[in-house]
Amino acid sequence: MGFGQSLFPVHPLIQEALAVNAGQNMYLPSAGLPELRELSLHYFSEKFGFDANEFKTIVGPGSKVLIYDIQLAVEGALLLPVPSWVSYAPQAVLIDDPIIKIPTTMEDNYHITAESLEKALVVARQKGMNPKKLIINNPNNPSGLTMPQSRLEQIAQVCRKQGILVISDEIYGLVNYQQNHTSIAKFYPEGTIVTSGLSKHLSLGGYRLGIAFVPKVLNSIYDAMIGIASGTWSTVSSPIQHASLKAFESEQIIEEYIKTCTEIHSMISSYVREVLISLGIKYPVLEGAFYLFPNFGAFRDQLFEKEVKTSEQLAMHLLDKIQVATLPGTAFGDAPENLTLRLASCDFEGQIALNYYIEHPGCTPESLVNACCPKIKLACQRLGEYFSNL
Ligand SMILES: Cc1ncc(COP(=O)(O)O)c(C=O)c1O
Repeated sequence: MGFGQSLFPVHPLIQEALAVNAGQNMYLPSAGLPELRELSLHYFSEKFGFDANEFKTIVGPGSKVLIYDIQLAVEGALLLPVPSWVSYAPQAVLIDDPIIKIPTTMEDNYHITAESLEKALVVARQKGMNPKKLIINNPNNPSGLTMPQSRLEQIAQVCRKQGILVISDEIYGLVNYQQNHTSIAKFYPEGTIVTSGLSKHLSLGGYRLGIAFVPKVLNSIYDAMIGIASGTWSTVSSPIQHASLKAFESEQIIEEYIKTCTEIHSMISSYVREVLISLGIKYPVLEGAFYLFPNFGAFRDQLFEKEVKTSEQLAMHLLDKIQVATLPGTAFGDAPENLTLRLASCDFEGQIALNYYIEHPGCTPESLVNACCPKIKLACQRLGEYFSNL
């Protein structure tokens, strides 16, 4: 349950498009293939609820690099929710930007609130820091939870008032279990850069195709980003950009594929959540992506007796004793003593799960996991036995 990679097969129409474009050998513009910029902007703006007219697009080799590109282009301290995805903080460290951590709680779905943001801004400025940018990630890795629209609106208001740029990582926007993802860019179009791509909803992480939508009014940031792109990766592989057009043509068959894969992720994560609940570990109903971030603090005393006092020790202990791989909460910036772990619920053969799901309409999470996800089933069994006998 350690690695977060969606293992569904590449959709045949996209494979076909890649084969057809194997002969594309020319460099493309650093901002990306013009048709791809246009098509992806319309696709995502419609799905995520923001106004396409207010944004310009940059295509990059994955959204991770684009987030780094934005961090480089916008100088100043980074406001970072805790826990948050493993790469944001190291990127800020690489460019020597200070980090202002904003703690979150499970009760708030592991997302910041307008109040916690305002408080962090006051404290940071009292310390003489210069907060400039905030990263939010919705739906979220590591929590699998989303932010309600009302909260997005409130955070947008604070950022507008305080002159903070939002970097909104929406790579899981289409792995939203209710299929109702909304971007904060709907409420703060002049100050939000949205990043997304194809890695998660179409299981195309290895294609390395990421996209950023930058407000037209932030032209100098856009130019700086293009300058960085031109001086580093030049352009994303031409066959990949041409093939990716297929993903944004809103073809019914691909849209249904995305929906089916997301439904399967939803069922399997809910199975893992049920195992945690049966152990007495509370966790909100999952809303997107394919992760959970449970806190094993309920077992603190028993774990202490085994010299397990931090999340890192807990992750190592579980690997050693029951051969279950997890990531410790510390990898996401959480305090070691919190005994949190990130569990990924995506380690199953996508094609087998798809076949079963299609052949068994109305199947339950349990029957799906029993039939198609032996590793998830075994890991859950071992976790269940281990903690109930502790
Ligand atoms: C929260 C989050 N953001 C961004 C990424 C990077 O995705 P990409 O493949 O587009 O670089 C990941 C991948 O694991 C992720 O979990």
